[in-house]
Formats: sequence, structure tokens, C-alpha cells
Amino acid sequence: MRVLIQDSSVSDALRRSDDLLPAEPGSGRGRSHGTSSKEAFDRWFRYPAGFASDYVSTLLENLSPGPGSLIVDPFAGSGVTGTAARNAGHSFFGIETHPLIAELANLKLQVAPGSPKSFAKAASSLAKAAEQAAPSTAGTLREEADLTQRCFEPDVLARLVSLRNLIRAGHADAWGLYAKWALLGTLRDVASVRVGWPYQRPGTQRQPRFTDPLARFVQRATWMAEDLQQEAASGADTYASVTHGDSRDPAAWKGADGAQGCVASPPYLNNFDYADATRLELYFWGDVTSWADMCSTVRSGMVTATTQQTSVGAAREATLKLARFTNTGTAVEELTTQLQAERSKRNRGKEYDRVIPDYFAAMVEILENLAKSMATDAPVVWLVGDSAPYGVYVDTPGLIGQISEHVGFSVEKDIVLRRRGQRWATNQTRHDVELSERLILLRRQ
Ligand SMILES: C[S@@+](CC[C@H](N)C(=O)[O-])C[C@H]1O[C@@H](n2cnc3c(N)ncnc32)[C@H](O)[C@@H]1O
Repeated sequence: MRVLIQDSSVSDALRRSDDLLPAEPGSGRGRSHGTSSKEAFDRWFRYPAGFASDYVSTLLENLSPGPGSLIVDPFAGSGVTGTAARNAGHSFFGIETHPLIAELANLKLQVAPGSPKSFAKAASSLAKAAEQAAPSTAGTLREEADLTQRCFEPDVLARLVSLRNLIRAGHADAWGLYAKWALLGTLRDVASVRVGWPYQRPGTQRQPRFTDPLARFVQRATWMAEDLQQEAASGADTYASVTHGDSRDPAAWKGADGAQGCVASPPYLNNFDYADATRLELYFWGDVTSWADMCSTVRSGMVTATTQQTSVGAAREATLKLARFTNTGTAVEELTTQLQAERSKRNRGKEYDRVIPDYFAAMVEILENLAKSMATDAPVVWLVGDSAPYGVYVDTPGLIGQISEHVGFSVEKDIVLRRRGQRWATNQTRHDVELSERLILLRRQ
């Protein structure tokens, strides 16, 4: 039996697409999963959860926040809202908790440390030096993380590691972070195992998309230099930055006061784990060396959206926090009870019942912080999917809309952008609930 999307407090009339906020044909986040591999700045690194930048530009244009407005994004990710806002002549303030991804977003938004052409030149010199140093690196490859060793052929890995060591040792001078990202962007291009998003599967071989890692690195650096050149030529004079922090924390919002617009997409409930999705880059660069490290340095500031992140204590505390929101608190409690019942039917079932309260309590904190920052009448667009763990339908956008109304927003629109989840349609063990990605338009009261 196919279950249709249940209704929420938001009427169906709000669900229709319109000219102001057109539904994007593929996905609001990024057409085939992730940021575009062709658009300027997006192509630096394909973040799986990233927006399609042309869609964000369309949204900003149609929301018309006024020239030179301050746009915010509390889930800034790879900074697509930031670059789109800058293109449109706005300032930007973002918050992102994933340290590596926050670094990438900031790099795209900061002013380049010199002529972009000098970066392209530096990248070519680095590649030559890496080629020369590769034979001496070959003997050290066993020191690399297991995941890193399993993802590449030894000669490819020797050149990647040799390049990384040069960059780490400061050979790229002021262009060090740019060179780092040209290299991190190269990794999945030259891997000889399945490293498609969001999972890295070092046990499954594949033909690498590019065979020469150093040529690919130079190609990527050249694109980055072109994008920086184009940006410098635009003469834009706006301020844009991303704070590495937790948007649940009011202190992370310093710099967002008086914001005149927001375009954002929170983690989807029961979607994927952003820390795990970037495991290859984190291990290769040496930012993490163990799973415990990953949890403490990357995951700790993230909204709980998957069962791997839950704890009994956090769920209990979250339920108490939600109790002050009568409708939402009751809805979340009912979902929790249904999910507990489903879990108890299964042997070692997943703790979705613990994810739900923690997730919505986080949404309360973030929306409260957002409300404090936004100017009166400012528009807020959130793109978010619903979900159905164990087949129990969770109307995430509807519940976020309810919370928003409690904390000082009105819900103006709730539009279905696309159906999703069809990838698993033939999986007999999966639920049969239709899912969608929706856009909600809120306005600060
Ligand atoms: C759907 S993605 C948004 C991607 C972004 N729109 C882009 O174009 O790249 C959600 C992001 O929220 C981040 N995130 C999760 N919890 C967070 C928190 N508490 N504070 C700030 N960012 C958080 C995740 O790391 C992830 O990058």
C-alpha cells in the first residue's frame, strides 16, 4: 500500500509551487546529489548535501531582500548561499559546525591573498616537486590511515601524499589552504574504489575517473584560480564569512544581527552523517585519526539527525525542553511512542525514538536564535525533507513550521519541490511511505 503524504498544520494551499518560489526540477539541494561540479566555486569540492547554486540565486532574486542586505545561513555547509549572496551584491553570515567544510566555505568567501594567476603557477610548481619527491614517499605509505591506503593504487597514493606533505610543510606559501582544497577535491577523482557519496566503500574496486593525480590537481587549481579571478574582476565590495560553530549556541550568531534574509537547509532527519560522508578527506589530511576523534572533533557540534548520534540522556532532556510547545511537544511525544513500539518489535532495532526529540529540540534553539537575528518582515527560506523511519511518517517541514510560529515567524508558504526516496522503491524491506523535499517560507513578525 502506498501511503500519501499526511497533512500537517499547514494547509494544502500552501503546498503549491508558484512564481515567487519556483520548484526546482531536480533537487533544491543539488541536482544529482551535491553541489554542482561545473559552477564557479561549487566545483572546488562536491559537497553531497550542497545546494544547487543557480536555485539559491533564483530564490534570493525572488525574495528581493533589498540591495546590499545581510543574508544568513545557520547550516552554511560548503557556502553555496554565501557565494550566491555575494554574487547578488549582498553580505553574508553563515554558521557551520563541520570544521573542514566550514574552512572550505570561508575559503570561497574570503579575499584571495594575491593574484589568482600566482596560485595557478604555484600549483604547477608544487605538482612538479611532488612528482620528484614521490619515490621517497613510497616507503612511508604504510603510515597512512587504513582507509587512505585502501582507496588508491600505491603509485597514485605516493604522489598524493608527497603533494600533501609539501603543502603541509608550507611550500604553497599564502596559497596553502587553496592548494589543500585543490588536493582534497582530487582525492575522489583518482580513487580506485567506490567513493561515491555519501559512503566510501574501500572494498569495492572501480576504474579511477582520472589516472594522473598531479595533472588533476593542477586542473582543479586552475579552475579555482579562474573563479577567484572572475570574483576579483567583479569588484564586489561586500562582507561574507562563515563561523565555525554550533548554531544552537547563541554565541555563534555574533555577526548576524539585523539579517534581512535567510536561505538554508538543515540536516534531514535520518538522512546521512556529514562526518562519515567526509571520512576520506578527514583521514587523508590527518584531521582525525580514529572514530573517537571523528566524534569529538567533527560530530560533537552537529544536530542529532541519525541514530549513531543519540543518547538516552540527550533524548530525555530534549523531551523536557519541547514540553513548553504544546502542539509540537505532543506531536513529538506521539512519534516517539510509535517509534519505541516499532523498535521493540525488532531485534536490536535502531533508536529513532531518541533522534526525534533531540532533533526538534535543536530546531527550537536554532529558530529562536534565528528569530533574534532577523529584522522584522525579513524572509526565511528553509529547504527540508520529511522522513519515515520504520514507516512512521515524520512531517519534519510541518513541525519546523509549527515551531517557527511559536518563536516569532509566520509560515507563508510550504511547497513540495520534489518527491524523494524512489531509489529504494524496489526494496521490499523498506517502508512504502512517499517522501518529499519541501520549501518553507517564513517571515519574521
Ligand atoms: C543540508 S547541509 C547544508 C549544505 C549547504 N546548504 C550547502 O550548500 O553546502 C546541512 C549542514 O548543516 C551542518 N550542521 C549540522 N548541525 C549543525 C549545527 N548545530 N550548527 C551548524 N551547522 C550544522 C552540517 O554539517 C551540514 O553541513
